[in-house]
Amino acid sequence: MVATYVSTLLLSAGALVSAAPARVEDRAASCTFKDVASIDKSCTDIVLDSISVPAGQTLDLTKLKDNTKVTFKGTTSFGYKEWKGPLISVSGTKITVTGASGHVIDGNGAKWWDGKGSNGGKTKPKFFYAHSLKQSTISNLNVKNTPVQGFSINTVTDLVVDHITIDNSAGDVTNGGHNTDAFDVGSSTGVTISNANIKNQDDCLAINSGKDIHFIGGTCSGGHGLSIGSVGGRSDNTVDGVVIENSSISNSDNGVRIKTVSGATGAVNNVTYKDITLSNIAKYGVIIQQDYENGSPTGKPTNGVPITKLTLDGVKGSVTSKAAPVQILCGSGSCSDWTWKGVSVTGGEKSSKCQNVPSVASC
Ligand SMILES: *[C@@H]1O[C@H](CO)[C@@H](O)[C@H](O)[C@H]1NC(C)=O
Ligand SMILES: *[C@@H]1O[C@H](CO)[C@@H](O)[C@H](O)[C@H]1NC(C)=O
Repeated sequence: MVATYVSTLLLSAGALVSAAPARVEDRAASCTFKDVASIDKSCTDIVLDSISVPAGQTLDLTKLKDNTKVTFKGTTSFGYKEWKGPLISVSGTKITVTGASGHVIDGNGAKWWDGKGSNGGKTKPKFFYAHSLKQSTISNLNVKNTPVQGFSINTVTDLVVDHITIDNSAGDVTNGGHNTDAFDVGSSTGVTISNANIKNQDDCLAINSGKDIHFIGGTCSGGHGLSIGSVGGRSDNTVDGVVIENSSISNSDNGVRIKTVSGATGAVNNVTYKDITLSNIAKYGVIIQQDYENGSPTGKPTNGVPITKLTLDGVKGSVTSKAAPVQILCGSGSCSDWTWKGVSVTGGEKSSKCQNVPSVASC
């Protein structure tokens, strides 16, 4: 392959200037690529400058060399095709993915948006696979208009996701954007998502399985809230050790949400929601349900996915007049060892559907 990257040798003042040409292996060399075909993964400091990804192709950043840094620069855009994606995929160990000042990664979602999300209509590409990353950081990315789900974080260990902005608010205009989850987390250990700023039309966060997951300092608007679940019916059905704190949820269907799948088995243990602010919530301020089925909850909670050691500490704010501040549907004996303090959600109408509510909680 003809290398079309531009190598840059960064020399500190007073350094000896060597006559040897810069090689991609040099730690100080960065390589700038302007099209997908030229990307050379042997470089460990990759700059993606204003890349237009051809329709139906993944911007493939998998199996990067250890310690590779990837920087998005300018506008990254994607051609239109009906396919499952992902538009971007990254894997490796000690990887850093970041964005240069002024960059935008534009998922060009409006080409796919038909109001049906992943439930029908056009086949839409998922946006970003952060799969099989180890000891890595994704930070300072400015994303807009994902066709459907945003970041899929799966089978990672020790990943920091900091200062990610996703603006899918254009998808509200025609009700076109749907199932645009910001972060879906599964089968991962040690994930911290901090300072996210999300405008979307589905979960701001959805944790299906995993251990030691933190979501801190997030701002979520327009979507379905900060969710655990749905849990059950997948290959991995255990959520253990989650802290969601110092975050706000506004203009959304739900605030705090835990949904376990009707009739399924699994476990949700040691989950804490702390210092969460709700405003203008349209359906439920806090919803904990063990009767979940995509589209239509059964109303009959089952007890195969117990929710234990759940703490809500400082969940405050308001819901709209037609919403319920709190709704809890637990199976028989499957919600236990809960702590509730400083839970104050005002507005709306009290739910009449609560079942098997632990005594510390009120519904
Ligand atoms: C809480 O989150 C906001 C961002 O929403 C951040 O500015 C602030 O520093 C955070 N505070 C603490 C105590 O973490
Ligand atoms: C609960 O989960 C948090 C976050 O992963 C962790 O720091 C804490 O040690 C866990 N507590 C127990 C008792 O396992």
